[in-house]
Amino acid sequence: MRILAIETSCDETALALVEASGGLKKPKFKVLKNIVSSQIAVHRPFGGVVPNLAKREHLKNLPILFEKIFGVKIDVVAVTVGPGLEPALWTGVNFAKEIHKEYFPKTPIIGANHLEGHLYSFLLAKNHSNVLKNIRMIYPAVHLVASGGHTILILMKSLTNWRKLGETRDDAVGEVFDKVARMLGLSYPGGPEVERLAGVGNPDAIVFPRPMMSTKDYDFSFSGLKTSVLYHLRDNPKARKQNVAASFQKAAIDTLVVKTLRAAKEFKAKSIMLSGGVASNRTLRKELKVISRKLSVNFFAAAKKFNTDNAVMIAVAAYIQRLRNKKRPLRAQANLNL
Ligand code: KG4
Ligand code: ZN
Repeated sequence: MRILAIETSCDETALALVEASGGLKKPKFKVLKNIVSSQIAVHRPFGGVVPNLAKREHLKNLPILFEKIFGVKIDVVAVTVGPGLEPALWTGVNFAKEIHKEYFPKTPIIGANHLEGHLYSFLLAKNHSNVLKNIRMIYPAVHLVASGGHTILILMKSLTNWRKLGETRDDAVGEVFDKVARMLGLSYPGGPEVERLAGVGNPDAIVFPRPMMSTKDYDFSFSGLKTSVLYHLRDNPKARKQNVAASFQKAAIDTLVVKTLRAAKEFKAKSIMLSGGVASNRTLRKELKVISRKLSVNFFAAAKKFNTDNAVMIAVAAYIQRLRNKKRPLRAQANLNL
C-alpha cells in the first residue's frame, strides 16, 4: 500500500510517500520520500510558533512539496486532523481534500491522529524489523510519548491494544524545554538548544525539584520544575547557564526515566519505547537504553527525523488505522487525544 501523507499540525510542513506492507502482524515500511519544510526562521523572531504565520507558510509550502512527488501512483491519501493548531491543521486537511479530488479521486482518504503517528513511529526504529521475527518478544511494552504538547506513559499489550498509564498534569516536557530555553536566552526551538548547552554544563551543579517523581501513579508534573528554574535565574543572576541547562535537563529526564522504569517492572514489559520530539534528546535516549539493557528488554526509538514532526509517522499511523478500518472525520480537531 503506497501512502501519501501530509502533516501540518504545527510549524513543520511535511509530506511523505511510504510503501507499507505486512499487515498488523508484521508491519513494514519503506520510506520513498520524506520532505519536511521547517518554519524555524519564520517563527524565531517571535520566540515561538505564531499560528497564523504557520498557516500562511503551510499554504505556501504545500504545493511546492507536492510538486516533488507529482505523477506518482498512490493507494491512500492520509492527513493529520489533530491534535495541533487549528488554523495549521485546516491547511493540511483542505489541501489533502483538494489534491484527492483532483488527482486521486478513487483512492481512500484517511484523517490521521498526530499522536498515533508519534506512538507508531517505533515501527520505524532500525532494530524493530529484526525483533519482529518473533512478535511475542515485543509486548507488553511501556511506551513514553514525549512531545511539545504531550507527555504520556502508555502500556501496549499489542500494536492495537493499549491504554494510558498516566500523563502530565500540567506542562508537557517539550514545552518546558522550550520555556527554559527562553529563560536562558536561547533561540526557538528551545529543546535542541537546551540539550546543546547542557552538553557542556554540570548536571549536578544545581538540585532542581523532581515533582511527582516518587508518587505511586504514572502521572507527571513539570510546571514546578519550570518555576524553580525561573526563581534560580532570578536569584542568581550570575548563574552559569550551561549548569542551569544541564541540571534542568537532568531533573526533567530523571522523572521520565524513573516512572518508565517502574512501569516496565510492574507490567513485566518486554520492550521500552520512546517517541515524540523530545525523543531526539540524546541523554534521554541513552538513559532509557541503559535501563532497557539492565532489564534485558528491547528498546525501540526511531531515528531523530521520525520523532520530531514529520509525515512518515502519519503514513505509518494511517496504515494501521486503515487495517483496523477506523474512520475519523476529515476536519481539524485541535484537541484530539490518544
Ligand atoms: O513532536 P514534536 O516535534 O512536536 C509536537 O508534537 O509537539 O515535539 C516538539 C518538542 C518541542 O517542545 C521541542 O523543544 C522538543 O520537542 N525537542 C527536544 C529536543 N528536540 C526537540 N527536547 C529536548 N531535547 C531535544 N533534543
Ligand atoms: Zn508532534
